Order: sequence, then structure tokens, then C-alpha cells
Amino acid sequence: MSTDPSRPLLAPPSGSLTISEPKVDPALQLDAPEASPSSSVYLSLVIPTFNESENIEAMIELLSKLLDQALPGNYELIVVDDDSPDYTWKIAQEMVSQYPQLRVMRRQQERGLSTAVIRGWQVARGEVLGVIDGDLQHPPEVLLQLVAETQQGADLATASRHVEGGGVSSWSVVRRFLSRGAQLIGLIILPGVIGRVSDPMSGYFLVRRSAIAGKTLSPVGYKILIEVLGRGNIGRVAEVGYVFQERQSGESKVTWKQYVEYLRHLVRLRLALSPFGRFIRFGFVGLTGLFVDMSVFYLLREGLQLGLTRSNIISVELAILNNFLWNDAWTFSDISSRQQGWRQRAKRLLKFNVICLMGLILNTLIVNFLFNALGMNQYVAKLIAIAVVLFWNFWINLKLSWRVTEVK
Ligand code: GDD
Ligand code: MN
Repeated sequence: MSTDPSRPLLAPPSGSLTISEPKVDPALQLDAPEASPSSSVYLSLVIPTFNESENIEAMIELLSKLLDQALPGNYELIVVDDDSPDYTWKIAQEMVSQYPQLRVMRRQQERGLSTAVIRGWQVARGEVLGVIDGDLQHPPEVLLQLVAETQQGADLATASRHVEGGGVSSWSVVRRFLSRGAQLIGLIILPGVIGRVSDPMSGYFLVRRSAIAGKTLSPVGYKILIEVLGRGNIGRVAEVGYVFQERQSGESKVTWKQYVEYLRHLVRLRLALSPFGRFIRFGFVGLTGLFVDMSVFYLLREGLQLGLTRSNIISVELAILNNFLWNDAWTFSDISSRQQGWRQRAKRLLKFNVICLMGLILNTLIVNFLFNALGMNQYVAKLIAIAVVLFWNFWINLKLSWRVTEVK
């Protein structure tokens, strides 16, 4: 076996995790980017791998055999390997000449299961996008039932351990408990998403491209299905039972870290899906700014005995810097991730600063008015000024600072 020079490794996409729109009439696609490939297929199945050298060959053989029967010439397998030290990507790439439907991506810049799946979908040509573990723990035969469900109109077809025909092979009580506990927490934080399927932890599912096209995904950790259910436009959901097999070779990459990431993922989605999520985040960042502002103000007033206005200006400016960093990385991260680079960032900081400085003038006027004219306690006066300026800052910054200005 040798690598086929006419079919090199796939180049990993970079930039935002957005799936391109479904293919339209090729005549209308004259200026199509390279992301919209020339020939389309029905199914693109991504196999994310990390150190699966002992499983990958069997995996590709089994899947190809099944799909050559069910969807001859109308599918593709996309292995997305995170530069495995055991050379999984190389083994897979060496199979490309024998398996015309196989494509392999070796990622060196990015890591992680969920982003691997999405990067694979970004180069996929299928009308239906899917994922299956590369370690043979997901029985390949179930795929045919999943495909059939999508052909019958399901937007999402997922394999489940918790419906008729499903189960786990020999999990300990502790592991079952952890798995169900995670599901319960998910149901509490995100009932509308987690409650839609019996096995939200599944990493074995198919989704219609049109249901997630154009959406920017932002997963943390392992549970890509949650992201798809949460951000996609998913109408009909179908579930097919499967028994989660024991691992024969290689080892699981799951550690306690995945549980923490799962929780972070739930919270992130909760905020993203709530109509006021952004304002809640902005308000929360504002609270950290309030802490910076108040404590610096206190130190300058009581410690250095500086004047009221001077103390106020310094403490507010430090809070502005604090808030910018958090807002850029969190509150508006979806927007800033599309506007990367230092120049863009500096531009945002400048705008944010100008708007906040206008807020500072407003703040100072209010503080002075309440303290000097109305004789109010200076700290209470500041609190009122901060509340007023919070609304001003959120609104104007949303409209001016974190706006996508450079259209590709
Ligand atoms: N590219 C890439 N990058 N692949 C990864 C990474 C990564 O960072 N981490 C894991 N994988 C691949 C593995 O090689 C395997 O093919 C698959 O993702 C699943 O990883 P495992 O480490 O085997 O996970 P697991 O078996 O404990 O957990 C699975 O259990 C769920 C059911 O509870 C997950 O795969 C879920 O998707 C699955 O449904
Ligand atoms: Mn596994």
C-alpha cells in the first residue's frame, strides 16, 4: 500500500466553526469558495480519531463494506485525526488508494473531539453529515438504520443506549451513575435541548446539513450532539437503539476534564440560547468591573486621599480595561472570533474605550450631581451612576464596537 499523490491529505479548515449552506444549483455557484466542493454525495461520515492505529483499518473496512451496499458511490468517509503520535492519520491515508470514498485530515493546529467533527463536516460534500467513534465501540450496522431514518425525513437520527435495543455492555454502577447524573444536570440546565433525546451523550448520529448550515458552532469538549441540538434548526428527531461495545484496542481519552467541559458547555449553551444571554454576560462582566472600580476608588480615596473626580476617573478607566478583556473573550466571543487579528482587536478596544469614556463623563456627572447637589452618600451615588451607564454601555457597544464590519 502507498499513498495516492492525486488524493493528498485534506487541509484542515481554519476560522469560525460554521458549516456551509447546502449545495444549490451549480450554475449559481460561480464564485463558490473551495469549501463548496464540486461533486456532492448523500452521506458524509466523520470518524474522529486520536491514537486509534489498532482500530482504524477495521473501522474503514467495515464501514466501506456496509455503505458500498447501501449507498454505492454516494457517501464519503472522512477521518479527522489530531496528529496522533501512533500515526493513525498515516495508516488511514495509506488506505485512500484502495478506498475511493475515503478522505483523511491530519490536524496539527487544533485539538479536541468536537472541533475535529466540525472541521470534518466543513470539508464534507454530503447532504447528510454524521459522526461515529473510530474505536469500534459504536456498532457499524446501526448506521444503516440511521441512514434509513434520514431518508424517511428525520433531520437528526441518533443512536441511543436508552431506547429499545440499546444498552451498555458491562459498565460499573459508578460509570452508569456518572453518565445518568450528567444527563440529569443537563436536563436541569437545558431542558429544551437535553430533553429532546434519550441519550444526549451520544457521539453516533447523523444530521441533515440544511439543519445546521450557516450556524456557527461553539462546542466545548466531547458532546457535539448537544451543540447540534441546541444551535441547529432540528425538526424531526429519530432514535435507534444500540449497545455501546467494550473497547477492544487502544484506550478511552475520557478523564474528569470531560465532565468539567461538559458543564461549561451546558452553561455556554444556556447563555447563548437565552434571549438575554448576552446582556446577562455583559452584566456579569460589569460586576467584575464594579469590583475593580469600587476597590480602586476606595484605595485612592482612603489610601492616597485623592480627589473625588480624579479617583473616579482612574478607577473607572481600570474597570473599562478589565471589562474589555472579558467582553471580548466571552460576551461577544462569537463576534470577535469572526474579527480576529490584532488590528481588529485594537479597533474594538478603542471604540469600547471611547464609548465607555462617554459613559464615564455621564457617570461623573451623575456622581457629582448626586453627591454635591443632592448630598447623597458617595458610594450610593456611584452605584446609581453605574447602573445607568451599564445600559448605555451595553447598547452602544453592541451596536458599534462588536459589529462585524469587514465582509469577506
Ligand atoms: N480527532 C480527535 N481529537 N479525536 C478524538 C479526540 C481528539 O481530541 N479525543 C477522542 N477522539 C476520538 C477517539 O479516538 C474515538 O474515536 C472517539 O473520539 C471517542 O473517544 P473515546 O475516548 O473512545 O470516548 P469514549 O468511548 O469514552 O466516549 C464516547 O462515549 C459516548 C457514549 O457515552 C464518546 O465518543 C461519545 O461520543 C459516545 O457516544
Ligand atoms: Mn470509545
